[in-house]
Amino acid sequence: MTPTDPPDQGVSAADPVDDAAATETAGPADGGVSAARALLGRARRVVVLTGAGVSAESGIPTFRDALTGLWERFDAQELATPRAFRADPALVWGWYEWRRTVVTRARPNPAHLAVAALAARTPETVVVTQNVDDLHERAGSGDVVHLHGSLFQPRCADCAEPWRLPGEPADEPAEGRRLPPPRCARCSGPVRPGVVWFGEALPEAALERAVEAAAACDLLLVVGTSGLVYPAAELPHVASRFGASVIQVNPQPTAVDEVADVNLHGPAARLLPALVGEPAAS
Ligand code: APR
Repeated sequence: MTPTDPPDQGVSAADPVDDAAATETAGPADGGVSAARALLGRARRVVVLTGAGVSAESGIPTFRDALTGLWERFDAQELATPRAFRADPALVWGWYEWRRTVVTRARPNPAHLAVAALAARTPETVVVTQNVDDLHERAGSGDVVHLHGSLFQPRCADCAEPWRLPGEPADEPAEGRRLPPPRCARCSGPVRPGVVWFGEALPEAALERAVEAAAACDLLLVVGTSGLVYPAAELPHVASRFGASVIQVNPQPTAVDEVADVNLHGPAARLLPALVGEPAAS
């Protein structure tokens, strides 16, 4: 934030935008929102890369939030590993079913809706998410690239046969519980969540699409990710290397700061509608 920024804006332009048109409209009055809107308004090919922060205001804890209830003693990153599942399948399956319950009860927030509105307005928009929830889809984004899989596509841990979730939504107690995983109908192996765990490869087609879109876009908008987990964290760098502008929305400093042309510090549910919304009548 520059010294002339009003203290109550909650947003700031971290770095000067080296784009003439954007810089023209970037005033200290809104600390970067105008600059970002100018870039977004001119972009034809947009990639929106989201992380857990975009769903935080829907009540879904991020990976850096402390866990509660039965999960209090654990670190999310310890539970999200093949080793944890092998060691204690009921603990890990129970955790993911609890997360599926939280997601099922959650609703898309204005950030998800703004992403869908942006994609509707700019047809060559690719939404890439690290999230395993379905809130982008429920907000109206039709074609979402899920880099880290989905809570809704479990499969057999042994033979990879997809496992159909029962029709009714998950309904786990708020404090969580251990829950033995179902057995595969084909080989009786344990069913595992359809997510990418630490140490596992990303789905090839999804990663390929994301990298191609990042290399070809005019603008990459990165929202609510700590930018620590690769290869997803590489995407803003790929876009920047190929000449695209990078806009970040995040209330905290992140590893993406160094590559962001415009850095908007604040919550996604407030800033994304401001970025994407119609210009105010003058
Ligand atoms: N709006 C925008 N960003 C927010 C908000 C909000 N309301 N609340 C929190 N954030 C930001 C945090 O400041 C943080 O930078 O969201 C980010 C969440 O970071 P992580 O929990 O690390 O989530 P993410 O970057 O998506 O994690 C990447 O790591 O654990 C693995 O596979 C998992 O997909 C996940 C990956």
